Amino acid sequence: MNENPIGIFDSGVGGITIYDEIHKLLPHENTIYLADSKNAPYGNKSEEEIIEFSVKNTNFLLERGCKLIVVACNTASTNAVKYLRERFEVPFIRVQPAIKPAALSSKTKTVGILATKRTLKSDLLFETSQKFTQGIEVVEKVGEGLVSLIESDKIQTSEMNDLLIKYLQPMLEKDIDHLVLGCTHYPFLIPQIKKIVGNKVKIIDSGEAIARQTKNILNLENLLNKNNTIPYQYFYSNEDPDVLQRILNHYDGNLKVYKINF
Ligand code: DGL
Repeated sequence: MNENPIGIFDSGVGGITIYDEIHKLLPHENTIYLADSKNAPYGNKSEEEIIEFSVKNTNFLLERGCKLIVVACNTASTNAVKYLRERFEVPFIRVQPAIKPAALSSKTKTVGILATKRTLKSDLLFETSQKFTQGIEVVEKVGEGLVSLIESDKIQTSEMNDLLIKYLQPMLEKDIDHLVLGCTHYPFLIPQIKKIVGNKVKIIDSGEAIARQTKNILNLENLLNKNNTIPYQYFYSNEDPDVLQRILNHYDGNLKVYKINF
């Protein structure tokens, strides 16, 4: 079992930002990544649909022997992980917007969060906010359209820049000093976001924390791969695989994406 892969899924290419942190921290673990890009964006779908996609993705990864599943999507994590944990025995790691560290270190007592509609509306986010943001103003913005542009390979475009200005300007007017990226697709936009918010705003995403959490759980469950060999890494996409391939090429030119009908 220890040599079995870690399964990672997202509504598309965004979970690669999580995969990358996991691979950096656990370089000998085998991994299987599934991009359900055909159904992206999840953020505007109903909770029932998000659960249905998440169950399908989980079954896909379990059929390939995954020993643990990382739901590398805030929208699926906040809407479907509770359901998945009740139905499957495998351990699940979920991502959620890093509001707590942002709120704890904010000096202006105002933090921004950019996420999908479904993540911002979720009970999990509501509960986290209730617990950790007493006395803090949280400026929420739905990143409408951002995931679709990323999935269509339109990261460095003026269309993207215009949307980012539209969502971030109102946050700057409220004097945020932390910006929480509540969607795993958004770290691809950090260079553009930095140009808009400047260096007084700290940008926070969950990648490193999720990688540490993955390592802790594997350790606790005695599931860490003890072999120090080069791992296998499979990437699957059920939409145009070139989009995921181009993103992966930035990390490692030897990784290959397989197209699947799913
Ligand atoms: N990467 C997903 C997330 O973290 C994108 C959601 C979507 O498909 O709308 O929420």
